[in-house]
Amino acid sequence: MKIIHSVNQMQRFSNEQKKKGKSIGFVPTMGYLHDGHLSLVRKCRKENDVCVLSVFVNPTQFGPNEDFQKYPRDKKHDEVFAKREKIDIIFYPTEKEMYPSGYLTCVTIGPIANLLCGKSRPEHFQGVATIVAKLINCVSPKVMYLGQKDAQQALIIKQMVRDLKYSTRIKTLPIIREKDGLALSSRNKYLKADERMQATCLYRSLKEARNLIRAGERGPSKIAKAMQKIILSNPSAKIDYIECVNANNLVPLKRLQGNILIVLAVFVGKTRLIDNITVNV
Ligand code: PAJ
Repeated sequence: MKIIHSVNQMQRFSNEQKKKGKSIGFVPTMGYLHDGHLSLVRKCRKENDVCVLSVFVNPTQFGPNEDFQKYPRDKKHDEVFAKREKIDIIFYPTEKEMYPSGYLTCVTIGPIANLLCGKSRPEHFQGVATIVAKLINCVSPKVMYLGQKDAQQALIIKQMVRDLKYSTRIKTLPIIREKDGLALSSRNKYLKADERMQATCLYRSLKEARNLIRAGERGPSKIAKAMQKIILSNPSAKIDYIECVNANNLVPLKRLQGNILIVLAVFVGKTRLIDNITVNV
């Protein structure tokens, strides 16, 4: 396993691999790796000659009052993980190179970035799209692997790749969960023991929603109410949003039909957690 910090070195490595006819798979992350990241890495490893993992806690996707400073970082753990999974390259770009003083260019996305998480995190998706665009230009992957855990992020990146004519293909893989249903996330580390127990309400509410839809319920407000009931029975839980949207474009549904994404963000204590489930009817 090789560790690369510089953009130039990363680009040179990728060009050499391509000249040799090797396919490059890429998993972008912010580190503190867990089994959710693992599923992406394993797929990437399996489907490509070369597997590149990036670790960069991207400042521009955090709001001013968010957790950029305290976001969990553990380089040693990440390197052990990467070695065990036979990753070829860990790319740790530096903040100085990714955002040199005087940089001006950003990637902005249309209305899709203002829905759902974009409402409470206004700059977030511009930060995500910008860093992912830069990372693609460093790694030049044939395929990039993303998690359905961040469903809106995955759709936005797909949109950007389409619009900006990148030749990289995007694969979105299913959400990996703890045994009790909590979606794995680096932020789960923030949860105190009692909050950790309460945090299972996100997935329980999503499953209830899916059951109701499968049983014939078609009204989004009925679904949201049933979910609220489950979530708000936990004293530390505060709902940011619950929505039933079209899974292909995130437009809110008036009547539940087709490929439905039920998506939510909930604060458990001070920790903001997101999760989602899809139902096809
Ligand atoms: P991060 O939160 O580290 O996630 C990296 C990738 O892992 C994302 O594609 C995310 O959807 C996926 N992932 C996280 N938890 C998962 C889970 N439980 N199951 C399956 N996949 C999961 O997302 C980011 O970093 C950043 O925004 C990034 C794209 C790297 C840009 O900075």
